[in-house]
Amino acid sequence: MTASVTVRVPAKVNVQLAVGPLRPDGFHDLANVFLAVGLYDEVTVRPHDGLKVTCEGPDADKVPLDAGNLAARAALALAARHGREANVHIHIAKDIPVAGGMAGGSADGAGALLACDALWGTGASRDELLEICAELGSDVPFSLVGGAALGRGRGELLTPLETGGTFHWVFAVADGGLSTPAVYAECDRLRAGTAVPDPEPSADLLAALRAGDAPALAAVLANDLQPAALSLRPALAGTLAAGSGAGALAALVSGSGPTTAFLAADESAARKVADALTASGTCRAVRTARGPVPGATVVAG
Ligand code: C5P
Repeated sequence: MTASVTVRVPAKVNVQLAVGPLRPDGFHDLANVFLAVGLYDEVTVRPHDGLKVTCEGPDADKVPLDAGNLAARAALALAARHGREANVHIHIAKDIPVAGGMAGGSADGAGALLACDALWGTGASRDELLEICAELGSDVPFSLVGGAALGRGRGELLTPLETGGTFHWVFAVADGGLSTPAVYAECDRLRAGTAVPDPEPSADLLAALRAGDAPALAAVLANDLQPAALSLRPALAGTLAAGSGAGALAALVSGSGPTTAFLAADESAARKVADALTASGTCRAVRTARGPVPGATVVAG
């Protein structure tokens, strides 16, 4: 019997996040271009009497360990579908910022799902895993597949995208998190009374990704949630300015924030931007990462 299974799952940055009008179900239709980047959580599962979640890492105290944790929900969902008990200890080694707009919680959901499938020998098909991911949250399917993809619907309907090279990113981690529903609500408030168009992917942006052309991608990066994140956290403007002043090709809020993302021309430019952001004192931590990288992957077990 397998003693444990470990799955590594990347963070994401949204290179385009076009947000349509509020839907009757409380979600928004999106044109969401995801890029998986090399910051990772590792999820390890082993047999246990009952369901237990533990977490280690600098932000471990901010991760809920109850049934609200997406990793716990993933294990319960898979177990329910296969008529078994979720008797598993899930341990999360957390490196992705918590509530940071980089899909850290979604990564843990996708990771736990893949890990439990392997541990229990469930043999769930890719389609079944993707279906469970979509039930868990809008960003969870992308955490499973990784690479680069266009998400339609509320972000869960994925089309893989071709990328022609590696992009170099710097991420400034802010103090504290932002609640995703609160940022969407603020977006609605800021746009109240205006006509919101249906979200469409940018052809120029998809071409820049396909070509691996960082300057061209920088020119069209777009996040409709950015004004809302800045409204809720005005200090982020200082972080964005610090990275832009240090030579980043572009600066934007990652997803619903408050992590900010900086696209650099190459590795040495990324290092320079990272050093300047650290020196600026406008953020809690600075990380560099490349993308695209593969999605959730079994690394041991
Ligand atoms: O899907 P997920 O549970 O991650 O979504 C969290 C919240 O973010 C939703 O309850 C909703 O308020 C908001 N959201 C949205 N439109 C989306 C995705 C998320 O309004 N497409």
